[in-house]
Amino acid sequence: MSLLQVRHLTKIYGGKIVQKALDNITFSIEQGEFVGIMGPSGSGKTTLLNLIATIDQPTSGEILINGRNPHHLTRKETALFRRHELGFVFQHFNLLDTLTVEENIVLPLTLNGERVEEMDKRVNKLAKKLGIEQILGKRTFEISGGQMQRTAIARAIIHEPSLILADEPTGNLDSKSSKDVMNTLGTINKQEMATTLMVTHDPAAASYCDRVIFIKDGKLYNEIYCGDNRQAFFQKIIDMLSLLGGDNHDLSTIRL
Ligand SMILES: Nc1ncnc2c1ncn2[C@@H]1O[C@H](COP(=O)(O)OP(=O)(O)OP(=O)(O)O)[C@@H](O)[C@H]1O
Ligand SMILES: [Mg+2]
Repeated sequence: MSLLQVRHLTKIYGGKIVQKALDNITFSIEQGEFVGIMGPSGSGKTTLLNLIATIDQPTSGEILINGRNPHHLTRKETALFRRHELGFVFQHFNLLDTLTVEENIVLPLTLNGERVEEMDKRVNKLAKKLGIEQILGKRTFEISGGQMQRTAIARAIIHEPSLILADEPTGNLDSKSSKDVMNTLGTINKQEMATTLMVTHDPAAASYCDRVIFIKDGKLYNEIYCGDNRQAFFQKIIDMLSLLGGDNHDLSTIRL
């Protein structure tokens, strides 16, 4: 069974102008896969992530995570489901600046009522792996963008979620920090078998994935697999983006 199944997913936003943001999208993701989502601005990428994250409700179609439909849960169950099964990484890091790096990282465990010894053990192991053990005592305004995002990644995975959802995790980073963050996400994916779904405009970031799904106008457009040549994969991603067209925003964030 696939870890994530998305079946005939459609999202129509109401309001004055009716907007079909997602149109009959079907795909699935296997346990341990690292999948990128790309597409022009407004093509429905964030909408898709929000539906999978149970932040928003689909108009029709269904989402199954480990065979369970999170949209069929009660409110309380949904909150627990999110806290246990999902890890989030955002473009704007979303760290709490009144807390230290360490306190930010253990937040999901604090919410789950984990024992202090267990929290310490996990945070130390993870900080070492992500190269942030020196900054655990610092506050978020004392660290760099790349360090902030690695802190956010640590927070997203410390409770060992089934699925990591990342929306433009390198969107606010320079190319050096982007590389660090993508190496981190790649390592976590390989070592922990952490299934990851990442939206990105950046072909360099997308080239770390096992597979990239392209969407256009809310519809599935194409998908390509990395195979064993990452450089060739990067070129295929660039070619696919130019086929897709879209806007200058996509091109302006390409880093070579
Ligand atoms: N809450 C909302 N209400 C109404 N329309 C919305 C809402 N959120 C998004 N849309 C519309 O749905 C479409 C898809 O938006 P979405 O944010 O998913 O695009 P995106 O692919 O993430 O774009 P970007 O690359 O710019 O982040 C757009 O046309 C957008 O204007
Ligand atoms: Mg978006």
